[in-house]
Amino acid sequence: MPSSAIGIPERTNGHADNLNRTVSNSFNELSPSPTATFQSPPSSYGGQQRTSAKTLKPFHTQDIKVLLLENVNKTGQDILKKQGYQIETLKSSLAEDELIEKIKGVHVIGIRSKTQLTAKVLKHAKNLIVIGCFCIGTNQVDLKYAAENGICVFNSPFSNSRSVAEQMIGTIIALARQIGDRNNELHQGVWNKVSAGCWEVRGKTLGIVGYGHVGSQLSVLAEAMGMRVIYYDVVNLMSLGTSAQMPTLEALLNQADFVTLHVPEIPETINLISTQQLEQMKTGAYLLNASRGTIVDIPALVSAMQARKLAGAALDVFPNEPAGNGPKFTNDLNSWTDDLRNLNNIILTPHIGGSTEEAQAAIGIEVADALVNYVNFGTTAGAVNMPEVTLRSLTIDEPNHVRVIYIHRNVPGVLRKVNEILGDHNVDKQMTDSRGDVAYLMADISNVNTSQIKDLYQSLEDLGSRIWTRVLY
Ligand SMILES: NC(=O)c1ccc[n+]([C@@H]2O[C@H](COP(=O)([O-])OP(=O)(O)OC[C@H]3O[C@@H](n4cnc5c(N)ncnc54)[C@H](O)[C@@H]3O)[C@@H](O)[C@H]2O)c1
Repeated sequence: MPSSAIGIPERTNGHADNLNRTVSNSFNELSPSPTATFQSPPSSYGGQQRTSAKTLKPFHTQDIKVLLLENVNKTGQDILKKQGYQIETLKSSLAEDELIEKIKGVHVIGIRSKTQLTAKVLKHAKNLIVIGCFCIGTNQVDLKYAAENGICVFNSPFSNSRSVAEQMIGTIIALARQIGDRNNELHQGVWNKVSAGCWEVRGKTLGIVGYGHVGSQLSVLAEAMGMRVIYYDVVNLMSLGTSAQMPTLEALLNQADFVTLHVPEIPETINLISTQQLEQMKTGAYLLNASRGTIVDIPALVSAMQARKLAGAALDVFPNEPAGNGPKFTNDLNSWTDDLRNLNNIILTPHIGGSTEEAQAAIGIEVADALVNYVNFGTTAGAVNMPEVTLRSLTIDEPNHVRVIYIHRNVPGVLRKVNEILGDHNVDKQMTDSRGDVAYLMADISNVNTSQIKDLYQSLEDLGSRIWTRVLY
């Protein structure tokens, strides 16, 4: 593969490493990201690459240094290796001083939940352009510091949706048949063969609150078992199968035999199900929560179970959860824990809805895809700390085009100055967005010859608002 002759420093704050950057792209061989497949058909601005997409090659892929910690899944490692990046993988996380040493030279770091990327650590990451959290949470990263220093952060919030939906299906049947209690009894040596209060799920109504990634997967699975599915969501959403959207939460609660919660934790959803909502449920119905612990008012649930208003419940998430495994699910954690543990037909699981081998593999693919898209094309779709900006690919028919990425402080007058610099060329397409104090501009410009690229880059670097400039071509 031909490589570009012009080196473009990554950072000019005294730490430029003058990378000669050449990038290959094997997009079409990668598995699709779950994010891209749910309710987000490929658009001209989406991550899907056209077959004639041009390979942006502003650097040698082998110059991109990637550090993968905490045994990142092989699926992710393979995608990054295919790009030709230099990859170092470690099975565990690193202590702060070791991490500071290692992070100094890398452009990309992949972590899971244990590695703490604090401002103190990131301060030493002079070449770092992107962080991949191969997990759901991102609270181990100082997201604000990263954004303010032009470091984009990705995670994988939706790779485990199917795993959660499948757990819900299993749990619905287990509740309907009181399998948890029978299992406990038999473990105590007690044979208790009963059919009273045990039901088939066929023909029963499942009420899904929150019809997003998890809720919609569950909808399809539940219908396959002969359940009638209704759902409530604050957004009007296309029903899958023969499911039906309810106009209000109350309407759903009035009709459902099983109510299952799949909403995000936001101020409006805290205690979404409390005493009033429990009263609105059918007597003998079941409640399942695998979203976030604060969505259900648990003392109110305990009262409803004790009063036999509900026939059963399942909780996979709790307002306070232990940081590690062990005998920690006690009243010290949440004052009502013992009350919950003493109820019949309540299935309690330690936040394992999304914990499967398949979800780990999907996380590897989703995050590695996002890293490759960011390194090679500058697209921030799915970023957690930067505005989401994508442009459709350059094509092979556009040989003298370059893609300018300019991460800058969100201050008045920047766009005018940037466009003065770009104005000598034809700006084919441009997109900019801001998130807090940081703005991300991406522009594809044409009729740029190789000798002009460095000037273009330098002019942008010289602007006072600059956080980070990249020119891909
Ligand atoms: N237990 C686990 O291991 C596990 C795993 C994955 C996700 N989760 C949690 O499950 C929940 C759902 O995840 P998801 O990926 O489906 O999220 P999502 O963002 O895809 O879907 C959430 C849906 O809830 C809707 N919604 C928001 N506020 C609402 C309200 N007040 N009433 C009704 N609907 C509302 C949204 O419009 C959206 O359609 C999240 O809280 C997530 O953190 C838990």
